[in-house]
Amino acid sequence: MRRISLTRVFSFSAAHRLNSDALSHEENKQIFDKCNNYYGHGHDYSVEVTVQGTPDSETGMLIPLPQLDTAVTEFLTTLEHKHLDLEAPYFKDKISTGENIVRYLWNELDKRLPAGKLFHIRLWETNNNYFDIGKDA
Ligand code: NI
Repeated sequence: MRRISLTRVFSFSAAHRLNSDALSHEENKQIFDKCNNYYGHGHDYSVEVTVQGTPDSETGMLIPLPQLDTAVTEFLTTLEHKHLDLEAPYFKDKISTGENIVRYLWNELDKRLPAGKLFHIRLWETNNNYFDIGKDA
């Protein structure tokens, strides 16, 4: 059977600063460069959420769009216009890299969507870089 998937795109804006307490000031500067700016900086993140499975025989859909939208936007609203390091408890002890943010998104969205539906998430941080997490990864 062929896999069918649906991808829907969401966005949120947030600030962060890449800095490790385990590293020296110079090391932080060298590794994180501009992203180590003391006062932080912001991104307009784009989030591509892919669900997969067998379409429902009645609706012909993998998931009703309002259900998907509600699950994702309810969570992303908690990050909207926040400073991730200061306001999202998940990042109290983790650096808010794209890698860690996309993992956080997976953990939270997987809980909010019907079991087994979430297949892949792509987090765009800038026009030049994105982070992927998925079932096959
Ligand atoms: Ni950044």
